[in-house]
Amino acid sequence: MSGSGAASYVWRGAFSNTEVNGLHAQAFETKVYSDEDWDWRRLTDRHSLGWVTARVDEMLVGFVNIAWDGYVHAWLQDLMVEVAARKKGVGQRLVAEGAEGARSAGCEWLHVDFEPALERFYVKKCGFRPTTAGLMQL
Ligand SMILES: CC(C)(COP(=O)(O)OP(=O)(O)OC[C@H]1O[C@@H](n2cnc3c(N)ncnc32)[C@H](O)[C@@H]1OP(=O)(O)O)[C@@H](O)C(=O)NCCC(=O)NCCS
Repeated sequence: MSGSGAASYVWRGAFSNTEVNGLHAQAFETKVYSDEDWDWRRLTDRHSLGWVTARVDEMLVGFVNIAWDGYVHAWLQDLMVEVAARKKGVGQRLVAEGAEGARSAGCEWLHVDFEPALERFYVKKCGFRPTTAGLMQL
């Protein structure tokens, strides 16, 4: 565990589905999915290289999921920070810890896609290189 300001960040840190579903609903302005609808623990156990939790006084204030191809590519998904904890560097630190976790596992590339409004965050603040990419709805 390591501290940055008031928050503590843990690679593959413990979390409950209820915590992440609550954070997800707030961050992405969705309904609160039930633990049966959206089983984050099962999802991360089966499909993630890792994830990072951010906590302030034990409360989950941020989360990011890192998926991978089992080799050298990792993908950043589901980055979320509680509204009250935003603009304090929590998002940047979650990305940095996720990148370090992927690097330590032998990954060479971390991918992310995002809406234009978040370009400043990902490129200027987090250090991603702008690139072209494709997306297909299935
Ligand atoms: C995007 C998000 C994770 C950023 O978390 P954060 O802890 O506030 O970010 P940080 O404090 O580390 O970085 C702040 C910088 O990021 C940018 N930024 C942060 N949130 C932003 C937003 N919602 N829209 C545009 N830029 C944003 C700003 O450039 C800001 O720096 P500035 O104040 O100097 O301009 C957070 O706003 C969030 O959870 N949003 C909803 C979910 C989401 O969109 N996730 C990303 C999916 S790709």
